[in-house]
This record gives sequence, structure tokens and C-alpha cells, in this order.
Amino acid sequence: MTDIAILERQILDAVTAAGDEAALDAVRVSALGKKGTVSELLKSLGAMTPDERKANGPAFNSLRDRVVAAVAARKTALEDAALDARLVSEKVDVTLPVRPEPQGSIHPVSQVLEEVIAIFADLGFSVAEGPDVEYDDYNFTRLNIPPDHPARQMHDTFYVAKQADGSRHVLRTHTSPVQVRTMLKQKPPIRIISPGRTYRVDSDATHSPMFHQFEGLVIDEVTHLGHLKWTLEEFCKAFFEVDAVEMRARPSFFPFTEPSVEWDLRCDRSGGQIKFGTGHDWLELAGSGMVNPRVLENCGIDPARYQGYAFGGGIDRLAMLKYGIPDIRSFFESDLRWLRHYGFAALDIPTLDGGLSR
Ligand code: PHE
Repeated sequence: MTDIAILERQILDAVTAAGDEAALDAVRVSALGKKGTVSELLKSLGAMTPDERKANGPAFNSLRDRVVAAVAARKTALEDAALDARLVSEKVDVTLPVRPEPQGSIHPVSQVLEEVIAIFADLGFSVAEGPDVEYDDYNFTRLNIPPDHPARQMHDTFYVAKQADGSRHVLRTHTSPVQVRTMLKQKPPIRIISPGRTYRVDSDATHSPMFHQFEGLVIDEVTHLGHLKWTLEEFCKAFFEVDAVEMRARPSFFPFTEPSVEWDLRCDRSGGQIKFGTGHDWLELAGSGMVNPRVLENCGIDPARYQGYAFGGGIDRLAMLKYGIPDIRSFFESDLRWLRHYGFAALDIPTLDGGLSR
């Protein structure tokens, strides 16, 4: 082995043996530094004759190149190993522990809406929906409330800006336009319930400009007021979770029903709490009636063959009664303390067999 080959083997062994960057740097300096072994060899070329230089130069230079390359390769390997070690030691667990309690709750209006749907679904009703911004035609005219009809004043309507064709949209003042939408696209028999938002220009402890109603509509060949009464009775028993209720009918007027009936529910308010089925107080429950044949006609249903009944009531009012909430406006103030107090657990989904409210 030549001296150069021995020197190379020594240096490369030292490079391989260097366990960290400091050790590797020491090896590098000892070979390639100013006084390093390889540098000394290269310097010795200066004192040689041209022929000697020719003979030794390429070997010395290629030795230097190999040493430089070996040091660089080892350096990269050491850096990679150091990075891997750091990644393992500095690992951060960014997952948070599961929160001990659910933070949100179900709003009483949502809860009552689900309760109402559960009860009517059990009676064979399906859910129908309509938009909050409604055609004037569906909200009024087809429901037998023509323009200039005095009943329009009773509704304190929010009007939306006029369309290009001069027609006006309204924020629906009741859920009754869903009756129209349903009859226009569905043939009898019809049995739907339609809960949703409604709007009127009104605000005090028992009125909110935005509130919720539920609408019921049944159209078939044989329907009568007895069916209507039975349906509402079954609803009240299930909703208020009592075995018996007593309802009182009052004659009323709605342009879209004939005859029209408003229902009150017997209750007892004497003990500071409200009880249903007994007592001497009456609570307004719902407006209703047999669907006016003109409305059937307006919606493409033959009044000679079909008849039906409809009813509508306030969801917020039902929630206030059932859960003892005194002011309707508090429903829509988004006060978290109120929501925590009156809200329902997220998994407390109302079912008739599981109990509506627990
Ligand atoms: N739409 C009526 C109201 O808002 C309620 C109603 C619905 C009456 C269906 C009769 C039939 O007061």
C-alpha cells in the first residue's frame, strides 16, 4: 500500500467514526485545514520538480476531492440523524382532551317544533315547508284574502320591495301559504303539518315580530269538524302529556276556512303553575276550520269532490306554556344564560315512546 493509500484509509476511517458534527470537524481540520495532512501534501507539490509534480499532482488532488466528498456525505448523514432525534424528542401532542360537558343546547323553540312533528307524524301527517319570503298571492289572494280585503289589515304585514312586474313579496304572516303550495303540487288525500317562521309588525311581551307557527291541512273525500276536533285533542294530550283534555269551540272568522272555529283548552292557573284538563281557566290554542271551497278552487282542487280542514297555532306560545317561559322576546335575545337554563340536551330527541320532554 502506498503512503497515500494508507493516509486516505486513515482519514476515511476517522470520518466514518466521527459521532457528531464537532468530531467530524476535527477530522476535517486535521486533513484539510491549513496544517492538515492533505493540505501539507498539496503544499509539498510546490517544492517538487515539474516531472515529480506531474507524477504526484493528480493523485494528491483526487485524494483531496475524495476526502472533501466523504466529509460532506458524513455531515449530511449526521445532520439527518440529529433532525430525526429532535423530531422524536420535541413531539407535541396537539389533540385536546374531550370536553367534559356538551357546551351547546337545543333552543326550546326547536325542541317544541320537534315535539309537534313527532306527534303529528304519529298521526300520519308528513312535513311540508315553504319559504319565509312569500308571494302576496299565496299568503293572501289564493287564501281568499283579495287585495283591499279588510282581513289584510289584521295581519300587520312586512312588505318586501316591489318586483319589476309590480307584484310584491311579503314576509309570510302565517304558515297558511304552505296550504296553497301543497295543494298546487299534490293531489288529495293530503295530510300535512308545516311548522316554520312567520312575521308580523308587532312586539310586546307576548308578540315578537318573528315568531313560529304550525299549520295543519287535511284534504280528503270525507272529512268533517269531528275529525278536526279529535286531531287537536290527540295533539294536546300528547303534547301536554296528560290523559285527558277538554276543549271548547268558539265561532270565529278566517277568510280561508268556512266555518271557522277557535279552540280553547281548559286549564287551571290557580297554583301559580298551569295544569291542563281541570280548572276554570281557558287557554287559546289554535285557529281552524273547514277549508273554504274557494281556496280549494284557487288551488286546483275540485270542491264538489273534496273537502278538508285546516288549523294553525303558535309554536312559541306552546313552548311558553309547556316550559313556563314568561316573555316571548327572550326566545330571540341569544342570551347564553337563558339558553343554558331553558335549553335541552342535544340528544334529548322527542319521541312518543321515549317521552316528549324529559
Ligand atoms: N293562519 C291563521 C292565523 O295565523 C290560523 C289558521 C290556520 C286558521 C288554518 C284557520 C286555519 O291566525
